[in-house]
Amino acid sequence: METIQEKKLSTFAVDVLEGLQAKPKYLSSKYFYDEAGSRLFQQIMHIPEYYLTDCELEIFQDKGNSIIQAYGMNGQAFDLIELGAGDGLKTKVLLEKMWQLKKDFTCIPVDISATALNDLENNIRCSLPEINISVLKGDYFEMLSHWQHQKPKVLLFLGSNLGNFSMEQTRNFLSDLRNVLNKGDQLLLGLDLQKDPEVILQAYNDPHGLTAQFNLNLLARINKEMDADFRLELFEHKEVYNPDNGLAISYLISKEEQEVTLKLTNEIIRFTKGEGIFTEQSQKYSKTMIEEMAQQSGFEIVSWFYDKKNWFADVLWRVP
Ligand code: AVJ
Repeated sequence: METIQEKKLSTFAVDVLEGLQAKPKYLSSKYFYDEAGSRLFQQIMHIPEYYLTDCELEIFQDKGNSIIQAYGMNGQAFDLIELGAGDGLKTKVLLEKMWQLKKDFTCIPVDISATALNDLENNIRCSLPEINISVLKGDYFEMLSHWQHQKPKVLLFLGSNLGNFSMEQTRNFLSDLRNVLNKGDQLLLGLDLQKDPEVILQAYNDPHGLTAQFNLNLLARINKEMDADFRLELFEHKEVYNPDNGLAISYLISKEEQEVTLKLTNEIIRFTKGEGIFTEQSQKYSKTMIEEMAQQSGFEIVSWFYDKKNWFADVLWRVP
């Protein structure tokens, strides 16, 4: 007699299956960040075409003291919570300045990637051993519940990470965030601004092929974690940018008509030639969009900080 074995699928497997069976197909960009993907993203941040990191680093180096002054928290203990901290290289510049200015804070980096968090924690413990640090692994939404305690907070949401959310997710996320924060709590948002489409396309389709590898790594991850047989050479990274709405979107395009088997769940996924899987959106913002987002979610804007080219902004929001 045969027994039907019910396999308990991981959230990853459930989400991947749902996305690949949908029309049109999609995969969540949060799944980019397995160990290989986190390493690739770290490399992307170091190439000149990916200007976002350099711009934000420049803002922190040149205007870090003004930013810290703007959020105040003089003489009171507070939590500095960084959402999607990654390897935290840029944040280190701020931390150093905060230490020099004798701010009394605990640094709480939150990230979905254990690899990135370990690197970050080791790095801070070595180079800034005086700073209190306590890392949290998980996705932002799970983390909301950890923040109910009463210390004043400064949240950092940098690198235009917010841009991966759809407008609806953005609205929900910012309102949820607003609701767990108290009067006077603050949010420093790093946002990529609308600019020459050519510059944006170069950043997301770099000539070194790193972004292509980063995108294709999603398929490698599915092969590994769901015993699938994606042939990476039969898919192509494709980036499009729409200046009407500021959306940069990444796809994986099937180069041929083909079938892929997910052995874990015994499913076959069929692709036509030229069919795409939507894998990521990276919103580019206008000043008006940012003002509307703040207003709709119940924050007030305290101040704006830009790089010299005006390509990127770090905007300080406060709960009124
Ligand atoms: C980490 C979400 C900010 O959208 O710019 C980099 C990820 N994707 N190259 C971005 C990414 C392709 C990045 N964020």
